[in-house]
Amino acid sequence: MSLPIVVDAPDNYEDPLDLMDEIDQLKKDRDATILAHYYVDGEIQDIADFTGDSLQLARDATRVETDTIVFSGVHFMAESTKIMNPEKTVLIPDMLAGCSLAESCPADQLGAFQEQLRESGREFDTVAYINTSAAVKSLCDWIVTSGNAREIIDRVPTGREILFVPDQHLGRYLQEVTGRPMILWPGSCMVHEVFSVQDLIRARKNNPGSQVIAHPECPQNILELSDFIGGTEKMRRHVMAISEPSTFLVATEATMIHAFQKSAPQHAFLPIPGIMASTGETCACNRCPHMERNSLRKVRDCLRDGQPEIVWQDYFERARAVLEKSLLE
Ligand code: 13P
Ligand code: SF4
Repeated sequence: MSLPIVVDAPDNYEDPLDLMDEIDQLKKDRDATILAHYYVDGEIQDIADFTGDSLQLARDATRVETDTIVFSGVHFMAESTKIMNPEKTVLIPDMLAGCSLAESCPADQLGAFQEQLRESGREFDTVAYINTSAAVKSLCDWIVTSGNAREIIDRVPTGREILFVPDQHLGRYLQEVTGRPMILWPGSCMVHEVFSVQDLIRARKNNPGSQVIAHPECPQNILELSDFIGGTEKMRRHVMAISEPSTFLVATEATMIHAFQKSAPQHAFLPIPGIMASTGETCACNRCPHMERNSLRKVRDCLRDGQPEIVWQDYFERARAVLEKSLLE
């Protein structure tokens, strides 16, 4: 009989089940609700009161009745939650959880570009993906998420041009589905940009009959090989609607598979590998390093300590008007 291998837990190890119990108690003590995006660790999604895509969570946040909201996701999501709920305390497990897309469009550069366009006599509306800072949102006319982009773009008066920021891939895809030409900001998501076309073709060959599902933040060469394109919630509904057990090749952040498996356990889901920019080698780099900053321990800590907190800024007021017009009306 072989003996079990005993591995010492690291000094700072905390049992996830104990952390979950602590979080439950702290939620009651602090009168708090936890919102979690589909890209954060499955164990956080499992203890959250609401899980969803950017659109659903922004709407859910306005229905929360507790004094405190913990937003487990990235900074722009927690910031939007504070903007829509100024009277509530909004906590984020890690203040450094940013977003490469949001960072690709600084407010001062956008303002300068808008000025240039106006000086040259162009009449345009600025449409921003929700993956932007509040300072950028305050300079825009409309905010879209992957879940409502089409319907918002249809609301932009046809006589006006559209400046779409910051995701060039989503913008290009939206030009195609709405037929509206757009001036595109050259931003992109570091996670969706690395999918390897070669690996996708190989995975399709190795899994006959499989379906490729992709987020519209992926570049055109991946979208062209996809059977279904949609934001996280749209993809989840798509796999749920198919009862016949199937294999899906997934071109989005790999943690999304947790939500797929929970909602449609009859299927198999395989992540498509990416290509590491520095070496050109295939990698499992389809995890968002910002979403990965969230952990059960940090959720516990922020509930216990009441920080890090998103603090109200003057320009949130203007961003609020744009967010409410776009997401709630
Ligand atoms: P969704 O709005 O589809 O949830 O996407 C959020 C995101 O950050 C995608 O990278
Ligand atoms: Fe931003 Fe991309 Fe991470 Fe989404 S997956 S939060 S777009 S860096």
